[in-house]
Amino acid sequence: MMISGKTRVLGTLALLLCSTAALADDDASASSRAAATVAKMTTDEQTILTHGIMPMALGDFGSGGPKFPDDAVPGAGYIYGIPRLNVPSLRETDASLGVAYIGGLRKDGATALPSGMAMASTWNPALIEAGGAMIGSEAKAKGFNVMLAGGTNLMRDPRNGRTFEYMGEDPLLAGTLAGAAIRGIQSNHIISTTKHFALNDYETARDFANIIVSDKNARESDLLAFEIAIEQGKPGSVMCAYNKINDHYACDNDYTLNKVLKGDWGWKGFVMSDWGAVHSPTTALNGLDQQSAWILDGKDYLGKILAENAAKDPAYAARVKDMNQRVLYAIYANKLDSDPAMKGGAIDFEAHGAVAQKVAEQGIVLLRNEGNILPLAASAKRITVIGGYADSGVLSGGGSSQVEGPGGPAVAIPLGGDGAFALFFSQAYQRSSPLKAMKALAPDTKFSFTRGDYITDAVIAAKKADVVVIFATQWSTEGVDLPDLSLPHGQDALIDAVASANPHTIVVLENGSPVLMPWLNKTAAVLESWFPGARGGQAIANILYGKVNPSGHLPGSFPASLDQLPRPALPGAETIEPDFQGKAHPGEALTIDYNIEGADIGYRWYARNHTKPLFPFGFGLSYTSFALSGLKVDAHNMTASFTVANTGSVAGDDVAQVYLTSAAGTAHERLVGFQRVSLAPGTKQSVTVKIDPRLLAEWNGTGWTVRGGQYSFALGTSAADLQPAIS
Ligand code: BGC
Repeated sequence: MMISGKTRVLGTLALLLCSTAALADDDASASSRAAATVAKMTTDEQTILTHGIMPMALGDFGSGGPKFPDDAVPGAGYIYGIPRLNVPSLRETDASLGVAYIGGLRKDGATALPSGMAMASTWNPALIEAGGAMIGSEAKAKGFNVMLAGGTNLMRDPRNGRTFEYMGEDPLLAGTLAGAAIRGIQSNHIISTTKHFALNDYETARDFANIIVSDKNARESDLLAFEIAIEQGKPGSVMCAYNKINDHYACDNDYTLNKVLKGDWGWKGFVMSDWGAVHSPTTALNGLDQQSAWILDGKDYLGKILAENAAKDPAYAARVKDMNQRVLYAIYANKLDSDPAMKGGAIDFEAHGAVAQKVAEQGIVLLRNEGNILPLAASAKRITVIGGYADSGVLSGGGSSQVEGPGGPAVAIPLGGDGAFALFFSQAYQRSSPLKAMKALAPDTKFSFTRGDYITDAVIAAKKADVVVIFATQWSTEGVDLPDLSLPHGQDALIDAVASANPHTIVVLENGSPVLMPWLNKTAAVLESWFPGARGGQAIANILYGKVNPSGHLPGSFPASLDQLPRPALPGAETIEPDFQGKAHPGEALTIDYNIEGADIGYRWYARNHTKPLFPFGFGLSYTSFALSGLKVDAHNMTASFTVANTGSVAGDDVAQVYLTSAAGTAHERLVGFQRVSLAPGTKQSVTVKIDPRLLAEWNGTGWTVRGGQYSFALGTSAADLQPAIS
């Protein structure tokens, strides 16, 4: 059930939005303390906080010096402190899903949250904030005081190998959830980043791709996601990206760093570079405040070279002060000095696992459920489980964000290669077996497990069972895009054959990003479990057996074919020479024109082209049914109110979504508000959500303008489940 509302916005309203400058007034004391410390710095001290090393024993690579400092913790980065001024060192760990495993170099484990797409599928900022608080506490317990988290890039192309680290395709959803995660992390008195600023939506070409995008298109899409995340999360740091934006590297980019981030948004923290993303000393003038792991750039541009430049050039000298001011501001605002992170803190893995499990349970999306085959009856006599190492664990995404629990992965499939980073390239499974969890919930069922390497034995096993649960996996990783949207290793053919042999086939996907499903109509059910984290196996089993009612909703559209994408061919696929360890070489200069879709990413692109994706943004089924009604939009207070009712027979959560459907008389689809609601059967709840006026506005070159005229809104359960506006 959907209902549409209409409202008029009178006159042309130029919106002067509250920027982070106003919010940061609370932090005046951090600013003045930072200024006082800067004033006390000697010239030599002024280039300590501006560059860092990589405290990882990767052969002779990465140290930037003969010996790591005593307080360094093996992790992504380290910035020396200034003991004379009580300035702590910065000890940095990846990433958004938990404390990174770094190939086991630290010989410890951490709790893995489900992937970013799973988190985003919860549409639950409070839960994502709790997840952030949990992983931030683990970082702090290990001695880290900076978390390289807050992944906020939008899913502009589902083939982006890092989609799994991010929060989907919509600026409001991604910005709100990334902001919540950052807030949670920083509640531990450590700094979080938001990354990768900006427009870093492809991986294979990330080191050299030149993103072409207009100011308007960027402000209304990717930059808006960051703007919201920064307002809501107030990260101490922003990590600039590898790629170029309109001919300038993202870490050497006056437009994104000086004009937008520090100017228009009034953000007072520090910009750190991505690892190996600095190519010139001019980065300092163009807004970079700290060079991470300088050895990867070959030169300490923001170390000795910066000191030399500052000695002879007043522009650099002024920037050096500002760079220190910004780093110190973030340190003081987040209390890194007064509540220091220490190695050896206790971690309650049981309690933290429960947080990860809750995120997985709210983030798993039920995509299909023919004849209500799910939830499974505990009485099913024979169940065949196929594939996905379901007897051992659940898959996780690769690269710097890889988290593993104590004891390391249940299964790790090294991808070979050599060099310092080879240990990062392994397909790793968290120790949480879905099969074991299913057995625990259905002790009287006879389970059999087949690895799924061969179609022949999988089909024989499928024919013998009442129900088949087939686990399909697609690994993805930082540094490499997916060439297409198929499942690898012949799994599409495997699922097709198994589902043809047994119509009661349930597919559980473990993957980072949307895939095609050529076998969809043959299956009874499909569960998108993403990379479900430390307790993914239990979460999947709980949903299969109805101990938990599925409530995840897609944070990104699943295309029906590659042709539906703005760029059907992966940019650079024909010319780039990939090195599978993420250091591809351009065959020739590569530009990627984001103005094709502009700000119409994902569901807005489908709406613009009147095409129908396989599954739309916002979609997700439940074991109960809901009715949405009574949408009223109050244009004066910028709120939308409506009622959600549980009309089925079991308790469940719905994610109600409010969309703009036309602006000033022109069709224009955009999510403007959402709310997750928990309801017992037969109950209902009234909901009011705030509407951010920027979501109704256009970027006019200097600010946001809401054009006068009629605006239509709709309430629905997905971007494709909206009733046209009623006049
Ligand atoms: C990634 C960042 C990460 C950094 C440090 C880079 O390759 O892009 O996300 O924080 O490495 O590990």
